[in-house]
Amino acid sequence: MSDLRGKVAVVTGASRGIGEASARALDAIGGQVILTGRTVDDLERVAGELENEPIVIPADLAKPEAGTELANRILNEVGGVDILVNNAGIPMRRMPEKLTEEDIDLVFAVNVRSLLTLSIGLADSMKRRGGGSIINVSSVAGVRGPGARVAYAGTKGAVDAMTRALASDWGPDGIRVNSIAPGLIATAIWEESRNTIPGLIEEMEGQIALKRWGFGDDIADVVTFFATDSSRYVTGETLVVDGGLARVSASAAPQVLPELIE
Ligand SMILES: NC(=O)c1ccc[n+]([C@@H]2O[C@H](COP(=O)([O-])OP(=O)(O)OC[C@H]3O[C@@H](n4cnc5c(N)ncnc54)[C@H](OP(=O)(O)O)[C@@H]3O)[C@@H](O)[C@H]2O)c1
Repeated sequence: MSDLRGKVAVVTGASRGIGEASARALDAIGGQVILTGRTVDDLERVAGELENEPIVIPADLAKPEAGTELANRILNEVGGVDILVNNAGIPMRRMPEKLTEEDIDLVFAVNVRSLLTLSIGLADSMKRRGGGSIINVSSVAGVRGPGARVAYAGTKGAVDAMTRALASDWGPDGIRVNSIAPGLIATAIWEESRNTIPGLIEEMEGQIALKRWGFGDDIADVVTFFATDSSRYVTGETLVVDGGLARVSASAAPQVLPELIE
C-alpha cells in the first residue's frame, strides 16, 4: 500500500534539494509533513505548496542538544510521528591534513549526532503508534573510499552502521530503519562546483552507468518506498541509489570481450 493518509512524516533538511523533493513526494501520497531546517523562507516556500496541513519547525542541527530539542518541539506540536526522514547533512571536501577539530566536530554534529538524537527522541512516539519507518540519507561516500572526503565519508559510514544497529534495537517494536546512499545528485551541494569547474559535469557523468546525474526526485521516490508498506519486510538495509556509480563498471562498457560471450 503506498498511501500515507493519516500518517505524520518528519523531513529534516526540507528547505531544498533531496529533502524538499522528499517532502513533496510524501505529501503527494497523503502524508502530513513536518518540514525542518534553518532557512525559514525556504521551508515556508515548500510548505506553501503542500496539501496536507504541513508544519514548519525551524532548527539548527549543528547545535548541542539540537536533535533532542527538535524531537520535543515536534511532539508538542503533533503528539507523535510515523515516519522520520533524516536527510539534513553537510559536505566536508577537505584533505585529511587540512581538517581541523572544528571541521570534524561540525560534520559529525549535523550528519551523525543530531540524526541519532532526533531518532531516539521520536522513537517512543512511533512505538506507541504501533511502529514506524526511519529513513536515513547516507551517501555512496560511505560505501566507497572517496578522495578528500574522509570526515564526510566517516559520517555516512556511521549512518549506515547506526541504521543496522537501530533496526536491531527497534525491530521488535515495529520500527523499520533503512538508509539510502545517493550518488551524484544535482543539488545545492554541487551547484558551485558544477558552475565553476570546467568539464566536471561530463567527467562525473562518464563514471555513472546510466550516464546522467541524479535529481532530488530520484531519491524521493525511494524515500516513499521506505516510508510506505511497500517495504514492510525490509529493515536494516542500505540502498545505493546512484545510477550505477559505486558498484557497476565505471565506464559501463561491456565487461568482457564480445568474442567471449557465447
Ligand atoms: N547531492 C548529492 O550528490 C548527495 C550525495 C550523497 C548524499 N547526499 C546527502 O543528501 C542529503 C541532502 O543533501 P542535498 O544534496 O539535498 O543538499 P542541500 O541541497 O545542500 O540540502 C541540505 C539540507 O540540509 C539542511 N541543513 C544543512 N545544515 C543544517 C543544519 N546545521 N541544521 C539543520 N539543517 C541543516 C539544509 O537546510 P538549511 O540550509 O535551511 O538549514 C538543506 O535543507 C545530505 O545528507 C547529503 O549528505 C547528497
